[in-house]
Amino acid sequence: MPNILLTPLDALVASPFARLTELLKGLEPGMKPTDLSLGEPKAVIPPFLGPVLQEHLREFGRYPPIRGIPALRQAIADWMGRRYPALAGHVDAERHLLPLNGSREGLFSAIFPALARKPGLAAPTVLIPNPFYQAYAAAAAASGAVPHFLASIPERGFLPDLDAIDTGILKRTVALYLCSPSNPQGAVASSAYLAQAIALARRHDFLLFADECYSEIYGNAPPPGALETAQFGCGSFANVVAFQSLSKRSGLPGLRSGFVAGDPEFIAAFGRFRNVACPQVPLPIQNASAAAWSDETHVEQGRLLYRANFDLADAILGARYGYRRPGGAFFLWLNLAKFGGGEGAATTLWKDCGVRVLPGAYLAQAQPDGDNAGTDYVRVALVHDADTTREALTRIVATLG
Ligand SMILES: Cc1ncc(COP(=O)(O)O)c(C=O)c1O
Repeated sequence: MPNILLTPLDALVASPFARLTELLKGLEPGMKPTDLSLGEPKAVIPPFLGPVLQEHLREFGRYPPIRGIPALRQAIADWMGRRYPALAGHVDAERHLLPLNGSREGLFSAIFPALARKPGLAAPTVLIPNPFYQAYAAAAAASGAVPHFLASIPERGFLPDLDAIDTGILKRTVALYLCSPSNPQGAVASSAYLAQAIALARRHDFLLFADECYSEIYGNAPPPGALETAQFGCGSFANVVAFQSLSKRSGLPGLRSGFVAGDPEFIAAFGRFRNVACPQVPLPIQNASAAAWSDETHVEQGRLLYRANFDLADAILGARYGYRRPGGAFFLWLNLAKFGGGEGAATTLWKDCGVRVLPGAYLAQAQPDGDNAGTDYVRVALVHDADTTREALTRIVATLG
């Protein structure tokens, strides 16, 4: 095991990328390197961004309001109404949302007000899908909550089995993280599944943290959202907040801009907490973000790029490695058990053809039975242009067969 895992805490929250660097240390790439390990969009920067930043440049000289400027809040509320028609007219830009410095810090820091909602629990618990985005486990580790991992297996469409969660655990749950479309498998939760998660959160009075940062990267149908499901089914956002980001939707991971929206009581509490503990979004970036949420042209261009990449995956991979085109996001989740498992295959692909992919085990934890659902897999991020993607996928097939 790479020596980056120094303590149990490191094991829980170790960066998958640091572990990959450790795995491949000292190994020369067999061909010109191509990095498919990182889910960093490579889309063209939308042309309207520069002028907005320039216009507001002087505002880097001011502390930004943590709750965001009205123009940004309104642009977000309007976008939510366009994207999810059931939400049109139901999102109050004042009460229902907060800007985030990218969704990661929000997913992390939201655990603190979620814990504070339910004081006095003996072992406050956070439910986390497995595999998962590392910030969820970091939130549990930092807050002292107990992470309880919910296996997301292929037989169940790579989504946790909500019926299988023990009632004792549900009683002490403060939050359930749910990612749809999911990283790494691209699984899309149906409205019925989301409704079940919302009902569970309300019954046991915990927060559903819906991580929807991949919601705009999809094939044919836009994935349903947790807030539209909450509003449509029960007429309120109670117990539900959704996390969004411009990183994937707009191909702007370096902008560090996202938002959280939903349950007004929670948003108010989170706003108070954020006011003393969390990073504000700089004013020029808030203005640029308002412009980005107001434009769909660049988003559609991004989707076309990802669709073209999945067309290539369909043609080049076929049915190899258990590949199936996912409903959303931009990852392949390939079963390479026959090729040395995730770590073995990642090493082979780097050494033989210079393609860098992420071992699935680095995105997952072993369940109590010792099984790590990621062990057999690698995650491949299809974020490059079509030529790079074609070349890399062709090399993978030539190497593994
Ligand atoms: C599932 C998931 N959630 C959240 C994030 C955080 O994205 P950002 O902080 O750039 O909004 C990522 C980034 O890769 C992710 O994969």
